[in-house]
Amino acid sequence: PSGTHRDEAGAVVVGGASLVDVAREYGTAAYVIDEADFRARAAAFRESFKGWEIYYAGKALLTRTVARWVAEEGLSLDVTTMGEMKVALAGGMPAARLGFHGNNKSVEEIRFALEQGVGRIIVDSFDEIDRIEALCRELGVRARAMVRVTTGVEAHTHEYIATAHEDQKFGLSISSGQALTGLVRCHTSDVIDLLGIHSHIGSQIFETAGFEVAIRRTLKLAHQFRTATGAELPELDLGGGFGIAYVSADAPMPTPDLAAAFEELIDHECLALGLERPRLSIEPGRAICGPAGVAIYEVGTVKVVEVENNKARVYVSVDGGMSDNIRPALYAAEYSCVIANRNSDAAPVLCRVVGKHCEGGDILIRYVFLPRDIAPGDLIAVPASGAYARAMASNYNQVPRPPLLGVRDGEVTTMLRRETLEDLMRLDVGE
Ligand code: LLP
Repeated sequence: PSGTHRDEAGAVVVGGASLVDVAREYGTAAYVIDEADFRARAAAFRESFKGWEIYYAGKALLTRTVARWVAEEGLSLDVTTMGEMKVALAGGMPAARLGFHGNNKSVEEIRFALEQGVGRIIVDSFDEIDRIEALCRELGVRARAMVRVTTGVEAHTHEYIATAHEDQKFGLSISSGQALTGLVRCHTSDVIDLLGIHSHIGSQIFETAGFEVAIRRTLKLAHQFRTATGAELPELDLGGGFGIAYVSADAPMPTPDLAAAFEELIDHECLALGLERPRLSIEPGRAICGPAGVAIYEVGTVKVVEVENNKARVYVSVDGGMSDNIRPALYAAEYSCVIANRNSDAAPVLCRVVGKHCEGGDILIRYVFLPRDIAPGDLIAVPASGAYARAMASNYNQVPRPPLLGVRDGEVTTMLRRETLEDLMRLDVGE
């Protein structure tokens, strides 16, 4: 997070709080999130994308406190499950500012969303349209809907987080005609108010090119829709996916540049197609919470392993791993880290930071230079850990999930407490 520095003793200070003090009081592994940094990134989107509606993507990191920050910063919230809806509402986010996503929303979830009066449901299949219509009739309400479309864009990112090429589970495809059919079905429904088109091309993206193709294809679809029905579509959502820096080679796109590039192209295309300019929205998740978060671990063992050509590799084991951050194992995601409890003048040595889980793939950081005097008891801090780490944590090997601690002006508050073994044992109700 911005403002991170070391105190006189060499301890890393985030949001005014020394990570050494945090570790002493709350234990490790732990996740820390800098409230001011999170809010500043939310505000930067709000200010750069003036007039747009910004939906923070709660899947990246959501707790009641996070939902409150998002609401206070004037953003809306993208939710994908009953659980995310409930946390959002408990945090004070008005239902009217929720966008409800998902490719397999249950009847129970859709009913709850309609009863609460969610702002919009992003429809992902024909089955879902049937389900929404039946529930609207049962409850005597109307649904506001967008249709999630597949633009055929090949986003340059890991296969598991690219979502707009044809052969994947999300959306109705433009090229097959299903997207237009879905839009017309919602438009002619007597219980659905169709808001427009939704496109999300993928995640951790560093170039505007994919978004530009998506803009051209979705506006062309809006034009086809108008030709078919005579109606304009009032809204276009371009989804999230704005990449952040995990390692020094990553070069994120500045938010003001993004907004300007999108607006210019949208205006140009609308003019060319004779369309009214739709209301616009985006759904950044990672770009708001990712850089605001830091993971802290304690080093337990340092082992030098002989590898080929008489070379050695230094394995640094920490008290967390793939259960609190699955991203390196799942997407080959890269991270960096530093010793967080002291300065060191020792020469750097190439290390591999690994977790405590029972498998060889439990690697947190494949390559990182750390001072060669790194030793058990040292703390390490992993920056850019706010998104999709604690949010995707599991209990693999019966490891309780780490806490999420908010820091602001030197004060630490517990947002998610550390799970305990008693929590886990309570779920185990077998004989
Ligand atoms: N909107 C929709 C419809 C999405 O599916 C997503 C992410 C977002 C917005 C937010 O994307 P962001 O701005 O955070 O990139 N677990 C993966 C990322 C999965 C993203 C899923 N959808 C990871 O750790 O990289």
